Amino acid sequence: MKHSSRITSIVTLVIMLLSFTSMASNLDQYVQNAGARQHISLNGQWHRILDPYENGYYNHRYEPHENGYFKNAKAKDKGDLVEYNFATAPLINVPGDWNTQEEQLFLYEGTVWYEKSFNVEKITNKRYVMHFGAVNYKAIVYVNGTKVGEHEGGFTSFQFDVTEQIKDKDNFVIVKVDNRRERDQVPTVNTDWWNYGGITRSVSLLELPERYLADYSVRLNDKGDGVIGMVSVSSPGKKDEVTVSIPELKINTNVKLDAKGMASFDIKANPNLWSPEAPKLYEVSFAFNGETVKDKIGFRSVKVEGTEIFVNGKSMFLRGISIHEESPFGGGRAWSEADARTLLTWAKELGCNFVRLAHYPHNEMMLKIADELGLLVWSEIPVYWTVMFDSKDVYAKAEKQLTEMITRDKNRAAVIMWSVANETPVQDDRLVFLGNLIKKARALDPSRLITAAMDTQSTSANGKLIDDPLAKYVDIIGINSYCGWYSAKPADCGNLRWESHYEKPIIMSEVGAGALKGLHDKKEVIWTEEFQADVYVHNIEMMENMPSLRGVTPWILKDFRSPRRPLDNVQDFWNRKGLLSEKGERKLAWYVLRDFYQKKAAE
Ligand code: GCU
Repeated sequence: MKHSSRITSIVTLVIMLLSFTSMASNLDQYVQNAGARQHISLNGQWHRILDPYENGYYNHRYEPHENGYFKNAKAKDKGDLVEYNFATAPLINVPGDWNTQEEQLFLYEGTVWYEKSFNVEKITNKRYVMHFGAVNYKAIVYVNGTKVGEHEGGFTSFQFDVTEQIKDKDNFVIVKVDNRRERDQVPTVNTDWWNYGGITRSVSLLELPERYLADYSVRLNDKGDGVIGMVSVSSPGKKDEVTVSIPELKINTNVKLDAKGMASFDIKANPNLWSPEAPKLYEVSFAFNGETVKDKIGFRSVKVEGTEIFVNGKSMFLRGISIHEESPFGGGRAWSEADARTLLTWAKELGCNFVRLAHYPHNEMMLKIADELGLLVWSEIPVYWTVMFDSKDVYAKAEKQLTEMITRDKNRAAVIMWSVANETPVQDDRLVFLGNLIKKARALDPSRLITAAMDTQSTSANGKLIDDPLAKYVDIIGINSYCGWYSAKPADCGNLRWESHYEKPIIMSEVGAGALKGLHDKKEVIWTEEFQADVYVHNIEMMENMPSLRGVTPWILKDFRSPRRPLDNVQDFWNRKGLLSEKGERKLAWYVLRDFYQKKAAE
């Protein structure tokens, strides 16, 4: 017995080592703009098996199984013992969180196995890449019983080359999804949003040329007299060229690639600039090796000078709102174009030219619709509250999410700032952690601004003093303050004065109060719409007296699910700070903010 178990543990070790090292992603480049590639969608109904004890992954010795559920085993005959069967397992929608699809899964945190079978007309000189928009939180992906990779982080896209694994007929993909919260994760164990589990965004199988255009970026150059960018292909070849075309700008240029299969370009041009008032998008296409990848891209500049934010050289006040990625009606993760269009149209109706997509990268549709509707975007990674700032592993996870976010959304004109954190405690290891993230973001994308939402301020003679040391490293200071809700009385807020140690623009990234839609009474009565509206009135007074205030994104567009909000008959697991109810109904405070934005827009 002893001898054989030693062999099994060596084998298991080898498997684990192999899986960890090579399979995080077997692609060294993200395939840009997956939605614009030749692909088959794997969205729809998948089979699902609940596995709270990870019985499909570990054996009774708590060692990874060789014959786990990923093998999709079938009973050979009536006497054959197989204790799971995807074919008869319940169906679940993908994309979608599991919490709002089955009542028993509303609070479920653990492992769920997903299975989907599919056919492909496999073509020899093609590469097949499986693209996941997002899976919360940990995903291990198997194709036809073979592990192709794993991913950690619930809000960024990932891909695996599955060319070797797929065949023409009867393919199956199995995903082990685990949304358990652990201390060393990003975000960590406590958040004020629902830990929706599942394959929450689209899944597709991309069919690409043997050598294909992997990544590209294009934007207005720093002088504003041309478009600058880069292209890179999956594997270098000889005399490679990529044709970059922007027909409306009469651009049709062959860009020669270097030995690494990469090239940058800076082409003279005079585009109409993208702005919230005129969100001009140009069709841009990249042709390489028989594939043409089309994108819609806006050209604009953004910078800060002193306490001003300039878009296309014009100082701008950012009339914003914070948004969680929840479907417009009811709870559950938003993922579709329709969801994005509804949420962002509500923001436009409020008079916004800006949205804070909190607290994690939202789905790609949100960014593309923001481009189309003309909404500037604050995009953020979930370094939220008390992640383990002293952990190198946790830093690596945060940096990876930052890189994935920037890589996916760098071509969206709407995105003007990357946020590296929300409400993190003032301590040395946090400053080092976030300082390194900021360095990384600037290296990855020198064209955008950096921010973070801070909730620690000191008290000054007549109010608040912005002195968080993190503010030294960002371009724009985000301030979360709940005057009239978590502190002070609404009426006190108008007199609250803000000072800042920094000559930088400030965005009030969170202000607000809770209200239950339909609850009405005198404005002193908490949870009424009148109380919430009153908090807005006085916070607007306060903000009108903030010297460097250049934007505001009140918390929040719509009531959203939170496990931290149990108050019966008022919250019932909803954070009620929305200006809209969970059904999209306007509360009184909606009109207070809309009127303020109308006034601001007219200034
Ligand atoms: C915090 C936090 C939000 C939270 C909000 C609230 O500021 O950033 O995620 O939902 O406060 O308390 O409602």
